[in-house]
Amino acid sequence: MSKKIFSGVQPTGNLHLGNYLGAIKNFVNLQKEDKNSCIYCVVDLHAITVKQDPIILKRNIRETTATFLASGLDPKKSIIFNQSTVPSHSEGSWLLGCVARMGWLNRMTQFKEKAGKDKEKASVGLYIYPILMASDILLYNSTHVPVGEDQKQHLELTRDIAQKFNLDFNCPNFLTIPEPLIQKKFSRIMSLKDGKKKMSKSDPSDQSRINLTDDKDQIVNKIKKAKTDSGELPRNEDDLKKRPEINNLYGIFSSVQDQELGETLSEFKGKNFSEFKNTLAEALVEKIFPISREINKLLKDEKYIDQVLIEGSIKAEKIAKKKVNDIKNIIGF
Ligand code: AMP
Ligand code: TRP
Repeated sequence: MSKKIFSGVQPTGNLHLGNYLGAIKNFVNLQKEDKNSCIYCVVDLHAITVKQDPIILKRNIRETTATFLASGLDPKKSIIFNQSTVPSHSEGSWLLGCVARMGWLNRMTQFKEKAGKDKEKASVGLYIYPILMASDILLYNSTHVPVGEDQKQHLELTRDIAQKFNLDFNCPNFLTIPEPLIQKKFSRIMSLKDGKKKMSKSDPSDQSRINLTDDKDQIVNKIKKAKTDSGELPRNEDDLKKRPEINNLYGIFSSVQDQELGETLSEFKGKNFSEFKNTLAEALVEKIFPISREINKLLKDEKYIDQVLIEGSIKAEKIAKKKVNDIKNIIGF
């Protein structure tokens, strides 16, 4: 079956190994399947739900685009663009916002986490962000949305909005109900400093993550200093489950090497921590450093990056505008 793929990544800087293994690597694999049509969006409107410095935001939009390209996304095969250049996303967001219910948004755990204790001070944008995400997805009749585990709830909300719209306006199948594509294995990469916390862009400690722009020495050092426990290397999966930090490092190694956890367990059985960490660091340098080198090379050619985004946005706009017009017609405008 051919799939219509849509996904987005926020240009908030510090793209890391979790973003790559949990999302971007999957984007590239989906692009390789001939029948798929893929759209990948730098969601800059989502980024401004929290305060951004305008100069850094501009740089991060280019850096996220460069990361897409350096990871293997090809603008000849996939549509690559940034959200703010296609006004239909905002327009669709308003239209769908009148279908979405407050009660649905109130359940969103990411809002609760990001808003923290003082919800009154969170931006309204942060609260309605899942509606904009629904607009992104639904305007392209997307059938599949590759995301990390943390976005599953937002995808469910998108499905609810689409179903309610189709029902309220008696237009069955008009908005396509999208399926999340969440990797079954290694879908949550954890912090190198705390195996119970997600690897995150916003963690104040740079040692907690491998950035996709890190050089060889930084990668090696971060793995060397990654938290472990004092036991021996694990013998089986049950042992691993009780040890979050090692579990994470074994998961990262398996994911980078495209192998099963069981293979990693047997590969290092009887070996010591330093042997494992050395091999892990080598594997990461081999797979991640070429991406980092390419990002840094691409960033020197801003014109090329901007051109990719302009061409992508022209293609995206055509599709999105038509869908917004159809929605407006159905609503009665
Ligand atoms: P964000 O950085 O929140 O814009 O996320 C971009 C994509 O990366 C989303 O699909 C996330 O689900 C995914 N992602 C972010 N952090 C992680 C992580 N630590 N492990 C796996 N996937 C992640
Ligand atoms: N909310 C997603 C995140 O923070 C990013 C995103 C915005 C997205 N629009 C999307 C992901 C549409 C998939 C599809 O990671």
